[in-house]
Amino acid sequence: MSELRVMTAQSEDLEPSQRAELLALCGAAFGEPFEETWDRVGPGLHVMGELGGRVVAHAMIVDRRLYFGHEADLALDVAYVEHVATAPALQGQGYGAATMRRAGGIIGEEYALGALSTSRNGFYERLGWETWAGPTSIRMPDGERLRSPSRDGQVMILRTPRTPSGLSIEAPAAVDWRSGDSW
Ligand SMILES: CC(C)(COP(=O)(O)OP(=O)(O)OC[C@H]1O[C@@H](n2cnc3c(N)ncnc32)[C@H](O)[C@@H]1OP(=O)(O)O)[C@@H](O)C(=O)NCCC(=O)NCCS
Repeated sequence: MSELRVMTAQSEDLEPSQRAELLALCGAAFGEPFEETWDRVGPGLHVMGELGGRVVAHAMIVDRRLYFGHEADLALDVAYVEHVATAPALQGQGYGAATMRRAGGIIGEEYALGALSTSRNGFYERLGWETWAGPTSIRMPDGERLRSPSRDGQVMILRTPRTPSGLSIEAPAAVDWRSGDSW
């Protein structure tokens, strides 16, 4: 693996050319136009792996709230990880893991919990993330929770020194609704 430099920047501090570079990277990795997804997810902290002055790997941390327990009585402000992407030609060389390791370090220092939704559980498990075993739901604006069975087994968490010790991985977990994919 060539030397990867991992940098961070808030969305609001990105130059238009950097934003375009990240959009192109995510679009190429996910194989679809990314502008709408990018806008839907909103701003956050970008973690960018640079190689020779070019961003080749990206992850971002978005502030969100998750609710745990049968009564959703434990609410935690979490670091929700989105847009994890490595340039297709450079995948499988550890750049994604290195970028996610930095994201995990930031989460460990600044948040009570990390969370994300994925179908690549093994990739994150090797980095210390755990697959949520409880049922998942979406919390609507009126407070009602709607089950999201297709996301069961896809939500993952990263515990931090500030994670409440009583948090059971088998408890129900809900996330606030947002347009498009809530999880
Ligand atoms: C998921 C993704 C970000 C991983 O990025 P990456 O840079 O390929 O990740 P890494 O190289 O660190 O790890 C990928 C695999 O290569 C393996 N690997 C890492 N370094 C390696 C090396 N030097 N030699 C051989 N294999 C290696 C890892 O073990 C890992 O195995 P896994 O696929 O079973 O987890 C990338 O595949 C991607 O952009 N996918 C499309 C978008 C996507 O699905 N994003 C995630 C949505 S949650």
